[in-house]
Amino acid sequence: MQKITIINGPNLNLLGRREPEIYGSETFEEFFGSLMGRFNGKAHLSYFQSNSEGKIIDKIQEVGFEEDGIVLNAGAYTHTSVAIADAISAISAPVVEVHISNVHAREAFRHHSHLSPVCAGIIVGCGLKGYELAIQFLLSIGEEVSG
Ligand code: DQA
Repeated sequence: MQKITIINGPNLNLLGRREPEIYGSETFEEFFGSLMGRFNGKAHLSYFQSNSEGKIIDKIQEVGFEEDGIVLNAGAYTHTSVAIADAISAISAPVVEVHISNVHAREAFRHHSHLSPVCAGIIVGCGLKGYELAIQFLLSIGEEVSG
């Protein structure tokens, strides 16, 4: 079974409470429970969240040579972090960048991502559904690789 880790960056531990008009009212823990149910028997999903850039990089390095894919919402570090982009370039697992909100419809500083050029795909503005779409994509490319 393919192994996929979801990594959420800063302030995403506040989902459900944080600006619900932008990010919705569901906590990630609630959502992750239903997500695991949806992929039961199809993928082994893990979840990690940190507000620290270095801890996100440590997790990318830890799973990036072992697992089949990473779904990464790096939050605001998306727009600032060359170090996270370098970590994505360094590993062998494909990474899908996800943003819950449509960053292109928001402030100009959210329009640029250091991560997009080194990711296998990008899903923006689909709400929490974006995580599910990213997993489906990673499973489909994993099947192509393993035949
Ligand atoms: C976000 C968009 C980022 O610009 C923001 O800093 C976040 C969340 C999103 O999921 O829409 O923290 O990554």
